[in-house]
This record gives sequence, structure tokens and C-alpha cells, in this order.
Amino acid sequence: MSNDVKKTYTEKELASMSQAELAALGTEMDGVTVAFRKDRWPVENDPNEKRAANGVAIWLAISILAALGFLATYLFWPWHYRALGDEGHVFHTLYTPMLGLTAGIAILALGMGVNLYVKGFIPEEISIQRRHDGPSDEVDRRTVTALLNDAWTTSTLGRRTAIKGLLGGAGLLFGLVVVAPLGGAIKNPWRAHELDYNGDGTLWTSGWTLQEKGVKLYLARDIGTIAEKYEGESGTHFTTAGLSRLVRVRPEDLSSGAMETVYPLAEEDVNDGDRYNPESHAYENHMHSIHGPRNAVMLIRLRNSDAERVIEREGQESFHYGDYYAYSKICTHIGCPTSLYEAQTNRILCPCHQSQFDALQHGKPIFGPAARALPQLPITIDEEGYLIAEGNFIEPLGPAFWERKS
Ligand code: FES
Repeated sequence: MSNDVKKTYTEKELASMSQAELAALGTEMDGVTVAFRKDRWPVENDPNEKRAANGVAIWLAISILAALGFLATYLFWPWHYRALGDEGHVFHTLYTPMLGLTAGIAILALGMGVNLYVKGFIPEEISIQRRHDGPSDEVDRRTVTALLNDAWTTSTLGRRTAIKGLLGGAGLLFGLVVVAPLGGAIKNPWRAHELDYNGDGTLWTSGWTLQEKGVKLYLARDIGTIAEKYEGESGTHFTTAGLSRLVRVRPEDLSSGAMETVYPLAEEDVNDGDRYNPESHAYENHMHSIHGPRNAVMLIRLRNSDAERVIEREGQESFHYGDYYAYSKICTHIGCPTSLYEAQTNRILCPCHQSQFDALQHGKPIFGPAARALPQLPITIDEEGYLIAEGNFIEPLGPAFWERKS
């Protein structure tokens, strides 16, 4: 690689060379020609050098302050939702912009500091090197190390304690800006909160678990209502007063061979039929039910001839109501919605990886990667003729997790 340059040196010869000599030898052996090299500050104690160092220090200090600002915002800023007009609404709306602003300034100032340092203190140099093939000799490795050391020395960073500290601090804090938000993603999967339409926060529960607490749960369909516009004194607003997103389902609402996606609707959130109240604000709870991670259920009305061929699973013989069967919509493979019901074959299809489940055999998987049956919800009708849950699911919903036994 290094042409006619001497490349065999004894350990003693190498040890006797200074760093500068080794660096020079390295460039020679690598076929590198230093065409131009100039120190940025050849005159000692040049006042301009101090000014340049101050410029770098200012940017690094800004980066540190912005990174600290980001961490303070992330940890202490009031981020909980506040509705328009509520106290603290402005702070709530500024949370995300503040995170973006402080993180942006931190990285920008760090970049500026590094950039100014490189431009202001690393010697200007133009080197030309020929390429070579194959592994490097010991002498090459030693000289490369010396070159790197030389780069460190000539960068003068080693003796610029303040800038070195600021650079390290800015780098460290910027690293925290990147890493700290990941802490928000760490959750205790066993920590339960109060049970609601989202379950209690653990994988064992869903909105249907409310039934175990004595809450009457209707099987309700999503009719897609959206907030209504009205003109108020202060301009155009939207309201959900009196609106219903979920309405109760009666058996006669589905034709034979039909499938409907239903969600749990607690009795106190009913706002349809003879219980309609134009002042009700149940809409928000309806949305919570629809968004509950394991709440969606497929209500299937089998054709009469098919209903006669159903093979019930042991312990679930009474879970259906007539020819109505309710299966969890959450695929037992990895949790996609098993949205497709094919009435001719009574197969339920998950579009993600093509698992198929047999609606005539308690949702048993018959094709694809899913290994467990779709959990079945016990259903019946109440005294008014609306479909309701007669109990909770008797097994966890969705894909497997560590503590799950079946
Ligand atoms: S998630 Fe349903 S088949 Fe994979």
C-alpha cells in the first residue's frame, strides 16, 4: 500500500518515535499527501480565539438550557386535557409545542456549537490519499492511532476544559431529550385502575367486565353520529348534547345471515327510544365504549338451517340467544379485528393473516395462524326485548400474553 516508504519497524523504533513523527509516518505510508494545512490560531492568546471560544460556549450553553427546559416540560408541565374555557386550557394546549420548541432549540444549538468549533478550531487541511486493498499491518494500525491522537491534540479540545465540559453536558442532555420520552411508554401491565369502558387497564378485562360489577350492558350498534354545529354568541360551536352514537339492538334488527358489530352500553348511558333525553351528554361515554381496546363484538344471526347444526363448546351451551351468537371481534392471533363474516360458509375471516373461524363451532379456528377460538359472549334479551350481555367473557380476549394459561 505505501509504495517505497519503509514500513517495517521494530517495536523499539516505534516506541522511540514521537506522536508527531508517527502521524507524519502514517500519512506517508498511507500514500496521503497533505496538500495544505494551517492552524486556525497560530498566535498564542489571540483575542479573536477567545471570542470564537465564547461563541461556541454560548451555543452549547443554550443547548443545555433548552434540553433542561425540555426535561422540565416533559416532567412537570400540566398536560392533562382541559376543555375550552376550563382553567389551564392554554397550558394544556401549549404542552406539545413546548416539547417541540425546547427539543428543536437543543439540537439546533448543539449543532451550531459543534459546527462553530469545527470551523473555528480544527486546523484547516486538504489531504489526498490513494485507496488500497486488504488488511492493515501493525505499523499501519499504530500510525492510524497516532493520527487520531494527533487530530485530538491539534483540535485543542483537550485543553479547552470549559468547552469540553459544555460539549459533554450538551451531548448528554440532548441524549436525555431523546431517551426520556421513552419512559412514558413504560407501563406496569398489572396495575389496575377503576373499571370502566376501557376495562381496568389489565389484559384480563374489557368494557364487558362491567357486567361482573352488576352493570346492565346492552349490545349496542354504532350509528356514526357526529357532533352538531350551532351558532353561539361567540361564534360557531359543536355540541354532542342529546346525541347518541350507540343505540340498543333488538333481535329483529338483524336479518337472517347478518352480522353486526356491537359494543357494551351501560344502562345509564342509554339515550335512544323511549329513554331519549335531549339534554343527555352520554355521547362521550359512547365513544369511550367504541374505543375500548377489547370491546368490539360480532353479533351474528345464523340462518335457521345453520343454527340447527351448531356444535356448542362445553360450558358455553347457553351463551347464544336463539340463532344469535356473539363472538369477540379481536383475533386470537395478534389482535386484528376479524371483520369479515361469510354467511354461506359461516366462516369468520381475519384479514390480517387470513385466519378463519367457524361460527358453527364456537368460533373455533379452522385455517391460518390463530390457535384459539374466538371468545363467546353470553347474551339474552331483557324485559323490553333488547339484547343484553348475560355475563362477561369467560376467558381473556385477543392474543396470548405471558400469564395466560390457555
Ligand atoms: S391477527 Fe388475525 S390472523 Fe393474524
